[in-house]
Amino acid sequence: MDYRYLYDGIDDKVKLANGEKVTPINFDNGATTPPLKSVTKLIQDNIKNYGPIARGVGPKGEYCTTMFERSREIILNFFGLKGCNSHTVIYTKSDTEGLNILANALIKNKDDMILTTRMEHHANDLPFRKAGKVVHVDVDDLGRINIDDIEQELIKANGKIKVVTVTGASNVTGYLTPIHDIAKLAHKYNALIIVDGAQLVAHEKVNMRGCDKDEMIDFITFSAHKAYAPFGSGAIVGLKEHLKGSDPFLSGGGCVAGVFDESVIWSPIPERFEAGTQNFFGVIAMAKALEELQNIGFKNIKNHERDIKEYIINSMKCMNNIILYGDTDYMDDRLGVITFNIKDMNYEAVALNMATEKGISLRAGKFCAHPYVYRLLGVSDCDGYRDVVSGSFNDGMVRASFGLYNTIDEANIFLEQLDYLTNVLRKSNRRYKKPIRKVRF
Ligand code: ALA
Repeated sequence: MDYRYLYDGIDDKVKLANGEKVTPINFDNGATTPPLKSVTKLIQDNIKNYGPIARGVGPKGEYCTTMFERSREIILNFFGLKGCNSHTVIYTKSDTEGLNILANALIKNKDDMILTTRMEHHANDLPFRKAGKVVHVDVDDLGRINIDDIEQELIKANGKIKVVTVTGASNVTGYLTPIHDIAKLAHKYNALIIVDGAQLVAHEKVNMRGCDKDEMIDFITFSAHKAYAPFGSGAIVGLKEHLKGSDPFLSGGGCVAGVFDESVIWSPIPERFEAGTQNFFGVIAMAKALEELQNIGFKNIKNHERDIKEYIINSMKCMNNIILYGDTDYMDDRLGVITFNIKDMNYEAVALNMATEKGISLRAGKFCAHPYVYRLLGVSDCDGYRDVVSGSFNDGMVRASFGLYNTIDEANIFLEQLDYLTNVLRKSNRRYKKPIRKVRF
């Protein structure tokens, strides 16, 4: 099935280094995704209706406020929470902001403990390091976490772990984590569970309710730009009850019921965490994209992305001089995220070659998940530290990550260039030196 017709801007040609014009290939969906056509249309159609949200009286403001509030219902419905009074949607600008808000709101004192893993993106690690004491569950040789290790840490902490926060899917290996099993464990030991859904929500059905009360996901965060609505929005979907006792992360207008000379009464949740004028277009775009993904069906999405993933991994396994990270034998618990290196070639040079010679976008580096990448590379913390401090930046990988609009034809172009790189260019000492250009790691 070809889903390309649903997307905007993906067929506009780009110029290669040799002047040739080609249709670009975006295998960097883990970073960001193009908009669905229905999303761009919704924005275009509503530009003329734009007015203040929940401020002032007037037809445009009223129209926008209704759409803004209706989007919360769409998002709750997307996560299987229709009619569920315990959870709400808090709009954010990104997954990172969502996790910072939660770290700030849920961790009340510096001695509180938080359990996370070594598989995480920095966004699901650093805000918690700042808020309290973090315990990290390690990964095995193939980069998976073991849920028994989570239980061991919960037992050891003897009730001090207040929050368990795990990624729903890794941005480095695509591993899915058993979020409902982890929720059960967290609840058994009186902790809350947060799922970082950044890499998950556009690829896998998430029903936050699980099969019973113990499996319920307390909080999930995500960014809309990784789910085909790249207009600067994200959300926290989570329990109202546990946020009631917290001051807002940002304060100003819109988050207060009353301000007096010496005191403030904060608004109820979710408004308390939405200070300032909100990103109306980002919010309606996000709700529209999720609704459309739901209509396409996650079974279709999963099957399509699985076929591309398996085709590429199986082809890469037959190539010489390729190092693949993560499990390439059993891949059912992996989304369409492939990380690799070519032996004796610099990772940035590989990505740059693919971009300039074929118009293929990949990501190179450590993907804002440095501790995880060091583990997969077999680089010690100490050596990694030296690599950064010396400015060498020799440690890294190349990542290809897929979306619903990618095709097997695109996979073939990628594989052909990879074959060229491993067989021809790799033998030349001249052309694959580390590039000067530096990207964010
Ligand atoms: N977290 C995003 C990525 O993995 C930016 O590329």
